[in-house]
Amino acid sequence: MEDPPSGFDWDEKAWREAGERVLRLVAAASTNWESRRPSPEHPDDALTLFTGPPPQDGVAFEELVNRIEREVLPTSAYNGHPRWLAYIMGAPTPVSVLGDLIASSLNQNSGLWRVTPSSTAIEIQTLGWIAEMLGFPSAAEGIFLSGGQMANIVAHAVIRDAKSPWDMRNLGIRGPEGNAQQLRIYASSELHYCHEQAAELLGMGRQAVRKVPVDENYRMRVDSLSQMIAEDRARGDLPIAIVGTAGTPGTGAIDPIPELIGLARQEDLWLHIDGAYGAFATLAESCPAALRALADADSVACDPHKWLFAAIDAAVLLVREPGRLERSFAFHASYLETADRGARVDFLERGPENSRPQRGFKVWLSIQAFGRDGYAAMIDYNIRLAAYLEELVRETPELVLAAPRELSIVCWRVEPEGIGGLALEELQTDVIKEIERQGIAMISNARLRDGRTALRACITNFRTRVEDVETIVRASAEIGAELAGKSPRR
Ligand SMILES: Cc1ncc(COP(=O)(O)O)c(C=O)c1O
Repeated sequence: MEDPPSGFDWDEKAWREAGERVLRLVAAASTNWESRRPSPEHPDDALTLFTGPPPQDGVAFEELVNRIEREVLPTSAYNGHPRWLAYIMGAPTPVSVLGDLIASSLNQNSGLWRVTPSSTAIEIQTLGWIAEMLGFPSAAEGIFLSGGQMANIVAHAVIRDAKSPWDMRNLGIRGPEGNAQQLRIYASSELHYCHEQAAELLGMGRQAVRKVPVDENYRMRVDSLSQMIAEDRARGDLPIAIVGTAGTPGTGAIDPIPELIGLARQEDLWLHIDGAYGAFATLAESCPAALRALADADSVACDPHKWLFAAIDAAVLLVREPGRLERSFAFHASYLETADRGARVDFLERGPENSRPQRGFKVWLSIQAFGRDGYAAMIDYNIRLAAYLEELVRETPELVLAAPRELSIVCWRVEPEGIGGLALEELQTDVIKEIERQGIAMISNARLRDGRTALRACITNFRTRVEDVETIVRASAEIGAELAGKSPRR
């Protein structure tokens, strides 16, 4: 046969030349923030730029990089920008970005030990480091997954299988007689939607998730929780787990974890902590005590791609009791020969992915590059900066704090004089949009307990400084006053 078609591979010189060109682009896209916007000026250009059929013939790589510079960079939003405080997104450190580059060049398919010994060992070591950071026992097992959402979904699979009295994997949700009890999971009404999605995906039905009311601090009410468990048991349902949120997606509230653990033990329920946002705050000096109690949970989901500032994606599920992940996910397929490998772990047996990227690698690099103390100082700084933002809001006449702050999320409302009702509600989202449109910052919204809307900033960003939060607070007041002047008064 003839040689394979050419063009797919490069020699070392070609690698270096193309790599240097790419690194120039990456460095430019990751610096000079003072002259750049977090949001693109014309985001809708993306609707027309990336259409059309694939090219028949290959395009030179250099031309492709030029196209990225021309078309992709200007239509991208930058969550690494110092004034990106929307949703909960960690700015990615240069170390983690380059870690991903190295990982993809090695292309370790991190499911099987045999084909990825170093990748697997690094993942195990990194999981151990994270367990130690959160106060989990060293025997706890875990797995890297794509995001907090997946980590929580996998947790629910483990919980469902562990707590159902029948062989769930084999018989399914309907049980041996086809009329099994309705499983019940309890989480606060401020939960992330992924828990309900997990219940749907795992066949328990969304109704399996009971939403427990919150108190004035947006924390789960333990009295209501007890009552709901008792009611469900009386009805013949089967309560299996309590999910405590360590940093709710709306206001960053921390559920009363010590009390939840006490109740879970009393009721023989699994206690899972959704720490996608807040878990790593346990490192910070200013961490609330209730959060540290997550160390006693049965499982915890956390997101290095949020508060360890790793590039997306990197999430972790830790399970206290070793073997539980395999009991829910292992198949030991004959063509993979994964059984009886001793200390050698095959991660494909611990989760729902067969081909898996080397997610742990960038986190392993990052933990070494910054150290536990480095992270502790940076997370603590983010929390203190949020306290400063809160203080600024309190001092600004047109602004009103809208929810208590526990970690690095601050919620506030713009309430200029002479505006109320629906116009005042619309003003909140208009201010968020205008701050984005003008390229000042990216913030998002929170829905308050009474249904009103608030502006919301979440600082999980190592680049954000005092002047950035000052700019955001000032802009919200000024833009609010300006827009209110234009709004019809009600
Ligand atoms: C509490 C909580 N759980 C789960 C998630 C989902 O995490 P991810 O976006 O990493 O999938 C989030 C995201 O913000 C969250 O705040």
